[in-house]
Amino acid sequence: MPETEDRPNNPLFGPNRLKIGIFGTNGKGSAQTLVPEIFKPTWKNVIDTARIADEAGYEAIVAYARWKGYIQGRVDHPAGIILDPFTYAAGVAQATSHAAIFATSHAPTIHPIAAAKQCATIDIISNGRLVLNVVAGWNKPELEMFGAPLKEHSERYEHLAEWLGIIKRLWTESEELDHEGNFFKIIRGMSMPKPIQRPYPPIMSAGGSQTGRRFACENADICFLLLHSEDPAEWRKQIDAYKRFGREEFGREVQVWTYAPMVQRDTLAEADAYLDYYAVQNEDRDSIDGWIAGNAATAQGMSPETLQKLRLSFAAGGGGTRLVGTAESIAERLHQLSDAGLDGILFTWVDFRDGLARFNRDVMPILEQRGLRQPFRSNQRQFA
Ligand SMILES: Cc1cc2nc3c(=O)[nH]c(=O)nc-3n(C[C@H](O)[C@H](O)[C@H](O)COP(=O)(O)O)c2cc1C
Repeated sequence: MPETEDRPNNPLFGPNRLKIGIFGTNGKGSAQTLVPEIFKPTWKNVIDTARIADEAGYEAIVAYARWKGYIQGRVDHPAGIILDPFTYAAGVAQATSHAAIFATSHAPTIHPIAAAKQCATIDIISNGRLVLNVVAGWNKPELEMFGAPLKEHSERYEHLAEWLGIIKRLWTESEELDHEGNFFKIIRGMSMPKPIQRPYPPIMSAGGSQTGRRFACENADICFLLLHSEDPAEWRKQIDAYKRFGREEFGREVQVWTYAPMVQRDTLAEADAYLDYYAVQNEDRDSIDGWIAGNAATAQGMSPETLQKLRLSFAAGGGGTRLVGTAESIAERLHQLSDAGLDGILFTWVDFRDGLARFNRDVMPILEQRGLRQPFRSNQRQFA
């Protein structure tokens, strides 16, 4: 496999100390709320918000992979209205020129030859800005739709590793290849054209368990994780643990990213009031109950009691490090996250258009003053 890395157009490897992105505009974002202003993934909304982020120099536009909502039998519920991440990524790539575009893929839902070719095609459309976010799948009802029963936890990652290994070979090998493993048999497999990025597009992985962390540190360029604490000292420990593990076990440097639901207002009281309005008064009770029921059965190491405590957190934005406050306090928190070793952070808002406008107007200049980001001009290359 070629070792040379050549990804000149992918801003994930650019100079900004703290990279930023948006998460989940192929669906309604991450908040589990019934307020009317919740984001709707019409194509106009998707492209408008992608362009706003792209033109402000955001490094990442990330689609999640979800095939149905959390409530069985409710096919019209907004939580189940989700655009396919690959075709979303292709369309967003065409409409943008700077940001890396992330397609998220559940390994059990797509054959590696199909995934390899789709990714190469999006890498070409985006001129080398694709990132593949790989997930093993955890939500039983989603996978059952494919006749792909949820595997036992470690087997999910064995399957994912074999799946990704085949994709990497298809991206890099110039001859036809044979493969016979535990999950796939491939006879004289090939995929042309190859992706633009060398040796292949960066990989992101969001495994949170020990097995997931090992998989991410061995196979991914970006580990996407939920920070377990509110305490910056704990953030540093958690982030360091990934980076050290990658270095010591596999001789690899990994970036660590997380994501953050955000409420930015002129005062903390206003921000808290909006959080209460959308995540408490108007929580999407049925989806939250459905998610808790699903996770209680499948999530490793989490008691139902712990999951209950996460109710507000899930309503506010599906977990993550909540950023609720003024521009100054949010910038300060982002600075602390960066000082703890975080490389990048994805934002989700209830109303992405409003959130992007406030952030770009008020927080971005503070991040630039603090040296966390460089001023961006969309008509200039940020790095050569
Ligand atoms: C920030 C973040 C984003 C995630 N996005 C998705 C997703 O889009 N689709 C999905 O099925 N799982 C997603 N997951 C779940 C992970 O793939 C993984 O199943 C979860 O973190 C549990 O880790 P484990 O598999 O190591 O137990 C996400 C997890 C995190 C932390």
